[in-house]
Amino acid sequence: MSTVKFIKAAALKEKPDVSKIGFGTHFTDHMFEMTYTEGMGWHDPQIIPYDNISVSPANATIHYGQAIFEGMKAFRQGNKVVVFRPLDHLNRLNNSARILDIPQVDVDLVHNALKQLITIEKAWVPDQRGQSLYIRPFIYADDGFLGVSVGKSYKLYIILSPVAAYYAHGFAPVKIMVEDTYVRATKGGLGEAKTPANYAASLHAGLVAHQKGYDQTLWLDGVERKYIEEVGSMNILFKIKGEIVTPELDGSILSGITRRTVLQVAKEWGYPTSERRISIDEIKAAYKAGTLEEVFGSGTAAVISPVGVLSYKGEDMIINEGKIGPFAQKMFDYVTGLQCGAEKDIHNFTEL
Ligand code: COI
Repeated sequence: MSTVKFIKAAALKEKPDVSKIGFGTHFTDHMFEMTYTEGMGWHDPQIIPYDNISVSPANATIHYGQAIFEGMKAFRQGNKVVVFRPLDHLNRLNNSARILDIPQVDVDLVHNALKQLITIEKAWVPDQRGQSLYIRPFIYADDGFLGVSVGKSYKLYIILSPVAAYYAHGFAPVKIMVEDTYVRATKGGLGEAKTPANYAASLHAGLVAHQKGYDQTLWLDGVERKYIEEVGSMNILFKIKGEIVTPELDGSILSGITRRTVLQVAKEWGYPTSERRISIDEIKAAYKAGTLEEVFGSGTAAVISPVGVLSYKGEDMIINEGKIGPFAQKMFDYVTGLQCGAEKDIHNFTEL
């Protein structure tokens, strides 16, 4: 296994007050870098000072978007630092790589490099509940070539950012607009991959939703515009007549690690759960019948995010009187408790 070289930053930065900086604005002193060259595979893993990266103006990723990323979090538990489900995230990175024809990474090597990077940057891991060190691995094609083809050279980086809650208003109900004009992804496309294209596809609709007073958009399937998919920055779950229901993984939505955690824990708590097609009409009908008890999102950045308003075709459904639902609150407390060490981690979700 290649050893990871370490080049220390000449000067260390001042650490910010995390409660004032929001999400993804500040970065630590070092980052991990690894290079892929055709014929050599992945090589030269190294931890280097955090800095701008330089690419050719003809860089294949800038022009054609062959790139993937991940998002995970490290938490402080007293003097110890843990990461939430790192191997699940790195395996998902390889799944995105498969979809985008990017060479697979050695998960153990990257995991070890991540452990080294976090150990070096330990002082950056915030100690307040609700705060964390967000970990952003990403890979992009590094060829300086304008032909449309799969790359021959790649870079992998891991950067770290101390963060507070993803939504500026913290753990509070969000307002979501069901999008019936634009489409994020379709089956057979890139929807399941964590790739910039899916986020680019969501930006305009997100802007329109913001202008109308909503925090995010909820995507419907791209063919019939009937079935619920995901929010883009999080998966979506419903509590209907006591059952936790979420759209099945059909290739066009991201297989969320927090989604997976919620389903597993909900089952253990004795809730019936199901992953299946859910139409927006079913949600409307459940709302009208009074059986739509809760709606919430799940994601690494968002953790558990209760939905207070779901708007479809101009009509607002007010969920649980616009308040945080008891299931979402319990799950949020449990997941954040696992992360900060207040809950016993019987599943070994946290490790470094
Ligand atoms: C995450 O939850 O890590 C995400 O990737 C969401 C987002 C900030 C893009």
